[in-house]
Amino acid sequence: MSKFRTHTCNDLSASNIGESIVLSGWVNRRRDHGGVIFIDLRDRYGLTQVVSEPENYADAHEKMDEVRSEYVVMIEGEVRKRPSGQENSALDTGEIEILVKSVKILNPSKTPPFEIDQAKEVNEELRLKYRYLDLRKERLKKNILLRNKVIKFIRDFLDGEEFVEIETPILIKGTPEGSREYLVPSRLYEGTFYVLPQSPQQLKQLLMIAGFDKYFQIARCFRDEDQRGDRQPEFTQLDIEMSFVDMEDVMVVQERLLIELCEKFAPHKKVKETPFPVLTYDEAMNLYGSDKPDLRFDLPFSDVSDIASSSKFSVFSSAIESGGVVKALRVPGGSEFTRKQIDEFTEIAKIYRAKGLAYIIIDNDGPRSPILKFFEEDEIALILERCNAETGDIIFFSADKFEIACESLGYVRLAVAGTLELVDPDLFAFCWIKDFPMFEYDEEEGHFNAVHHPFTAPHSFEDIEKNPESALAKAYDIALNGNEIGGGSIRIHEQKIQKKVFDILGITDEDAEQRFGHMLEAFEYGAPPHGGIAWGLDRLVMIFANEPNIREVIAFPKDQKAKDLMLGAPSPMPVEQLEELHIKVDLKEE
Ligand code: AMO
Ligand code: AMP
Repeated sequence: MSKFRTHTCNDLSASNIGESIVLSGWVNRRRDHGGVIFIDLRDRYGLTQVVSEPENYADAHEKMDEVRSEYVVMIEGEVRKRPSGQENSALDTGEIEILVKSVKILNPSKTPPFEIDQAKEVNEELRLKYRYLDLRKERLKKNILLRNKVIKFIRDFLDGEEFVEIETPILIKGTPEGSREYLVPSRLYEGTFYVLPQSPQQLKQLLMIAGFDKYFQIARCFRDEDQRGDRQPEFTQLDIEMSFVDMEDVMVVQERLLIELCEKFAPHKKVKETPFPVLTYDEAMNLYGSDKPDLRFDLPFSDVSDIASSSKFSVFSSAIESGGVVKALRVPGGSEFTRKQIDEFTEIAKIYRAKGLAYIIIDNDGPRSPILKFFEEDEIALILERCNAETGDIIFFSADKFEIACESLGYVRLAVAGTLELVDPDLFAFCWIKDFPMFEYDEEEGHFNAVHHPFTAPHSFEDIEKNPESALAKAYDIALNGNEIGGGSIRIHEQKIQKKVFDILGITDEDAEQRFGHMLEAFEYGAPPHGGIAWGLDRLVMIFANEPNIREVIAFPKDQKAKDLMLGAPSPMPVEQLEELHIKVDLKEE
């Protein structure tokens, strides 16, 4: 192979016994058994046990005594069978070991800040500072290799479907899709800036106008937003765009690719339902209180607004009077919840702005609840019937504005499923959510915002002209086990509609011309009907890797505060460099 090695650390087996070989790698662990020294030599491919005995090859033995964990060494030796009883079936090389003839230390190592060969929890700050060491550990190495395979598989699949991979620029003009942008100052043009793309949205649309028909890109996206476990300031999308398509045409291809990915990378998991269930945004909110419902378990809501509106329980009736709803969540087996558990669920509801979490328990003596006294018997009977309640259940209620009632009860639903262990970890439950509203009203700003982005097509022009507040978009999200793994839409391809949407969004003609003139102009040169989607690739790999957050599947992620702890970024820049960029920093005193 090279002067450093004839094999990798995962190559050798019983069929090589008696051969002279050379291996190079890191000392994973060194053990001294009364004179006989063992090391496990590690490289990306695996581990090989190396042995040195004092009576043979004295020089080599001396060196073996010197080496420590994480030294880089080159070993020459002979492959021999491990003594009977010492085989390790967990290793591909578990039948053999290398009897050392010579050892060369290629580079020593300081004692690492954490042990590489242990699966022990290590403080994340330390892991991120020494990411190159963390990446040596089995867990991260596996994740990064998995990510590589997933991307390769996606490329091959899309190539087979005649998609073209096209790179789009990283230094662009603003793509206002909702989040704050990262700016890059221009040296040549004083006071002007490039921005880093939040996504290649406009460029992929322009590629459709150019006639490429089917585009994809493994695209880096940049968003200066607050961090969470499933968000990073820079992340990767599988970005897709297609011409002459409607919603179903885009969805069908995605679905096929996702199913093939599951079969390939999670063969032990079961996809709960194919074709993937499709819910409208309205159904998803009404039934599960989420636009990315976890459908590994059911627990749908019932709506008891009509029954509650005439009740004497003012919490319910007043919520309805002010235009709200009362949503009910029936939990089979929930009558066993303790007071403390119910309080905990109530706290969760309150985090999501609910004012409380009323409940009715149904046990052998019938329904009981502090709120029972406010209801007539027939009202209770109607509520129980509406919820299909049975003995052993608890029913939780949330009364509020539609969004708050649904969302808060949605989080209670997730918490309840966790407590009752209703989540089958071997299940993949995908679902499509479609028909999102086009716009949401921003009370503070006093105008509409786009729910997906300003290039999303409405179901009809008439809707947006007459009733923008209730107009629906040709937009769809794909959710997996309660995570939003992708989102897309059919796009506007006509100037008139695009202008109308800008108008509704409060963007003046002048502003639209200045910010999106290139799009509006391009629509005048034969823009085909088109649409697409982007997947959060990090999130998908995270789920395949069974990891709790996307940092575990990104080689060099930022921390929760958007810092790169290894490189020390962001960092101050020399004044001369800033001057060249026409920038003066005005630090506010803390
Ligand atoms: P959207 O903004 O919904 O759509 O993004 C698509 C998908 O990208 C993932 N994602 C993220 N992943 C990690 N960190 C982040 N900060 C982050 N933000 C988003 C999510 C999300 O579903 N141009 C449109 C797509 C289109 O219409 O084709 C877009 O970017 O999984
Ligand atoms: P209270 O009248 O505030 O003592 O509340 C009685 C019960 O109703 C308690 O269990 C509260 O948690 C619950 N509750 C209060 N407000 C709401 C609400 N908006 N939706 C559902 N339950 C509520």
